[in-house]
Parts: sequence; C-alpha cells; structure tokens
Amino acid sequence: MESATDRYTDLIDVMRRRRSVRRFEPGQTVDRAVLLKIAEAGRWAPTGANSQCFDIVVVDDPKVRDAVLDVFIDQSNRLIDHVKGFPAVKKTYLANTVAIVIVLADERWKQAFPQATTAAWEREYHENNERILIASIGAAVQNIQLAVTAVGLTSAWLSGGGEDTTNEDLRRVLGFPEGLRAVGTIPIGVPEKDLASRYRRPLDQVVHWNGYDPEKFRPQAMLDYYVQEVRQFAMYRGEEDAGHWEDADKRLGPWKEAFTGPRPNPGGKIG
Ligand SMILES: Cc1cc2nc3c(=O)[nH]c(=O)nc-3n(C[C@H](O)[C@H](O)[C@H](O)COP(=O)(O)O)c2cc1C
Repeated sequence: MESATDRYTDLIDVMRRRRSVRRFEPGQTVDRAVLLKIAEAGRWAPTGANSQCFDIVVVDDPKVRDAVLDVFIDQSNRLIDHVKGFPAVKKTYLANTVAIVIVLADERWKQAFPQATTAAWEREYHENNERILIASIGAAVQNIQLAVTAVGLTSAWLSGGGEDTTNEDLRRVLGFPEGLRAVGTIPIGVPEKDLASRYRRPLDQVVHWNGYDPEKFRPQAMLDYYVQEVRQFAMYRGEEDAGHWEDADKRLGPWKEAFTGPRPNPGGKIG
C-alpha cells in the first residue's frame, strides 16, 4: 500500500511541475479519454455549499478552437491598447493546443451561499458570495491544471474570458447562456520545452505561525517595484529562487533581500 509520505511526494511533485506554458508543439492531438480524465479532476473540486457552480466546456474541434483563438487574439490586442504595461503574450500559441478547456462560472449559484436576513447585513454576505464563487472556480481550474500535468501535458490559465467583452465574444462562439462567465480558460498542449520551475517566495517568508508576523509584510514600495521592474521576469523565468537569476542584482535592485530572504520588512513597521 502507498504510504502517506509517498502520496505527498507524488502530489507535491505534480504541484511543483504544474506550469503556465505559452508555447506548445504544433500538430499534436490527444484522445477524448485523456480530456475526460482532466475534466474529472475539475468535477472533484470543492465548491461553496457544494453548489458545483461551474460547467466545463472542452474544445477539441479545430474549427471551434480557431474561433476561440480569434477571441483571445482580440483580447490580447485590447490588453496592449488599454492596460498599463502588462507583459501580455500574443495568444497565437492557442493554435497549437490539443484542446482548450473553459470553466464557466454560473453566477446564479451565488444564491446557494449565505444570504442576509436583513438589509443591515446585506453587504456583509452579498460581497462574500462573489468571493465564494470565484474561489470555487479557482479550485476547479487548479484541479484541472494539476490533472493536465499528471497526464503528461501542460497548460496555462487565461483569465481574460472574465472580461465583459471577451466573455460576450466567447458566449457567441460557444453558445452559453447569460449569467455564465468564462472565468478560467485553460489552453492545453505538449510543451515545446520543459519548464520545470518558476520564481516563488521562500517558504519562510510566506508562512506565519500563530499570527501575522509584521516583518513579513511586504512594503508598498516593494510591490510598486515588483510591478514596474520584476513582474515581467517573475512570470516567465524558470528558476524558483530569484536570487539565483544571473542578473539578480540588476533585476531585484534594492529589494533583492526582500524578495529572496525570510523577512521583507525588517523591524516590522506597517504603513
Ligand atoms: C487567477 C489567475 C489568472 C491568470 N491569468 C493569466 C492570463 O490571463 N494569461 C496568462 O498567460 N497567464 C495567466 N495566469 C498565470 C500566471 O501568470 C502564472 O500562474 C504565474 O506567472 C506563475 O507561473 P506558473 O503558473 O508557471 O507557476 C493566471 C494565473 C491565475 C492564478
């Protein structure tokens, strides 16, 4: 029988290898049986009130895939035109997918989450309904991405389908009703090269024991620096420890220790 340690080793290995890959080998195909295994992982995601507030559209017909590709080419052109300096990748790589999975959030199911009995408590519960819905979709997408890795393929997670214009374009292509929103689009393919890892904060920096440690609170200036100077590298480079990047000093600048060490906020001053 497999021990708990073996199971953890297998699980964390799949989790660490799950990667956002935006270049696939062209001309590959995959059986529907494999795609169903991937969808099955999504079906087992936890959801608020076990509402199962999503549907999974699997696109494996090249004609439909090309229509979805066109929607995302328009979406990334909008990012270039209307979004502040986001390092958007051209979506042409969707042409090389073996399938595209789209997770549709069914917003009506928010009514299955806690509802206030009086107007005074409306805001408290209403706003959290949205978070429960989105968190549930996140769990489904994560399960799907992990299964993709486990069957030897790779994927990305595109959130652009959640934007109004893109959602409407996808609705036109896929025919889903009003009230459903394409919060997660997952292009799946065979990776052009093995992207084994990605920048992550050190475990020590992320974990707080028995309460929040203010020395781990990342200052606003560090966040600003990330957005301006680091983000475009942190999203794409294949190395876990940013301190090991060849050009770490240049890229991380005065915040190198904060990005790579356990305490980004020595002294713990907040605000
Ligand atoms: C909610 C969410 C939305 C994302 N949206 C996009 C997206 O629209 N396009 C994209 O290329 N990657 C997207 N990503 C992928 C992230 O850029 C990626 O997870 C991050 O850079 C870490 O890389 P890794 O997934 O390879 O570990 C998204 C990830 C999440 C969790």
